[in-house]
Amino acid sequence: MKIAVIGTGYVGLVTGTCLAETGNNVICVDINKTKVEKMQNGIIPIYEPGLDTLFLRNISQNRLTFTTDLALAVKEAQIIFMALPTPPGEDGTADLSYILGAAKDISKLVSEYKIIVNKSTVPVGTADKVQAVFAANTSVEVDVISNPEFLREGVAVEDFMKPDRVVIGTKSERAIKLMTELYGPYVRQGNPIIFMDERSSELTKYAANSFLATKITFMNEIANLCELVGSDVDAVRRGIGSDERIGKRFLFPGLGYGGSCFPKDVQALSKSAEENSYDFQILKAVMSVNEKQKTVLVDKVLKYYGNDLQGKHFALWGLAFKPETDDIREAPALYIIDSLISKGATVTAFDPEGMGNVKELIGNKITYAIDQYDALKGADALLIATEWSVFRNPDFDQMEESLSNKVIFDGRNLYDLQKMIDLGYYYNSIGRTLIENEVFIGNR
Ligand code: UDX
Repeated sequence: MKIAVIGTGYVGLVTGTCLAETGNNVICVDINKTKVEKMQNGIIPIYEPGLDTLFLRNISQNRLTFTTDLALAVKEAQIIFMALPTPPGEDGTADLSYILGAAKDISKLVSEYKIIVNKSTVPVGTADKVQAVFAANTSVEVDVISNPEFLREGVAVEDFMKPDRVVIGTKSERAIKLMTELYGPYVRQGNPIIFMDERSSELTKYAANSFLATKITFMNEIANLCELVGSDVDAVRRGIGSDERIGKRFLFPGLGYGGSCFPKDVQALSKSAEENSYDFQILKAVMSVNEKQKTVLVDKVLKYYGNDLQGKHFALWGLAFKPETDDIREAPALYIIDSLISKGATVTAFDPEGMGNVKELIGNKITYAIDQYDALKGADALLIATEWSVFRNPDFDQMEESLSNKVIFDGRNLYDLQKMIDLGYYYNSIGRTLIENEVFIGNR
C-alpha cells in the first residue's frame, strides 16, 4: 500500500519505518528541512533500540522516503497518517492547532478518496473536528479515523511490530477493510484489531495511559506507607502482582511517572472531564501524588544531610525518564538536579544516552561524567534516578574507591538489601527497609 506519514517525531518515525518494514511504500513528511535532509542521508534523529536497522534497510530498498513536499505525499498515498504533536496548553488542554492546520492543508490537496488516520493522542471529538475541516474545504470523500498509538519508548519497534492490540475508531466499512489489510501482518499471532467508533477509540488511549499512571501511583503510595509501617514494597508487589487480576507489570514504585505521555495525558483527560462537568477525583489525586513523589529522593537526602547542602557534591546516575531512551521530558532527574543545586550542592551526572539532551537544556549547571564510575569521584553520595541495566550490577570495589561516602539514595530499588548490608553502605531506597550500616560520614 502507499502510505504518507505527516510528522516525523517519535511516533511518526516509528510508524513510518515499521509500516515500510512489511512492504508498504511510505513517504514521511516534515516541515523541518534540515531534519528531512538528514533522514534522506540515512541519519536517524532519535535513539530507539532496533529502529536504526529497520530505518536504513527500508531507505536502501526505497520503501521509506522523506520529503518536505506535502502535496507530493498526499498525491501518492491512499492512507495518510497524522502523527503531529498535541502539546498541553497552559490549562492542560491538548493543543490541536498542528492537527487542524495539517488537516486544512491536506484537504486542499486531495483529489480522490483517502483515509486520514489520526495517530496522535487527541481529545474525544477530534476526528469529528478534522472531518469537518475536510467537509469545509473539499467535496472529495475522505474517512477521518482514529488509531491511537500504544508504543513505549525503548521498545517501540517491538510494540509496533507485535502489538497487544490495534485500536481503530471508524464506522466506515471502506476504512475498516483497508485498515484490516494494513495491520494484518502485525497481528498474525492472533492479537486483535479492535474496531469501535471514533470517540471511543480516542478515549481508549487516554483511559489506558491514565489507568497505568494510576497503577504506578497507587504503588508509590503503598511504598511510602511501607516505609512508615515497616513493610517491604518488593514483597508486597510480588504478593499482589501474582493475582492475575492485578498483574505483575507497572507495579514498580519509583520517583513518579514521567515521560512525554503519562503526565500530559492524565492532565488532558482530567481537563476534558472538567470541561464536561465531571469531577474525575482519582485523576486529580494521581496528579498530586505524582508531584509529591518527585521529591521523595531529595527529601531523603535532606533528612540525612540537613537542609543546607552548601559544599556537598552528589553523583547522579540516570537522567533519561526511563532506560533505553534519551528522552528527558518530565524526567525525575531534572527535579533532583534543580533541588540539589538550589540547596547549594554540586552535581556530576552520568546517563548512557540522556546527557546530550540535558546539556542542551541546562548546559553546565552540572558536570557530565565519562562513565558511571567517573561520576562518583569525590561524591558525598550517589543518587540513582533511572534503572539502566548498566547500573544494576556495578563493580562495588570501584564504587567504594571513588565515593567519599558509602551512601546511596536509590530511587529505583536496584540493589538487594542483604548485599548492601554486607557491603556496609547507608542505602536508602523506596518503600524498603533503610540500611544504616556504620558508614564513613566524614562529610555529613
Ligand atoms: C507510555 C505507555 O506505556 C505507552 O503505551 C503510550 O503509548 C505512551 O506512554 P512511555 O512513556 O514510553 O509509554 O513509558 P512507560 O514505559 O510506559 O513508562 C512511563 C513512566 O512510568 C516512566 O516514567 C516509568 O519510569 C514509570 N513507571 C513505569 C514506573 O514508575 N513504574 C512502573 O512499574 C512502570
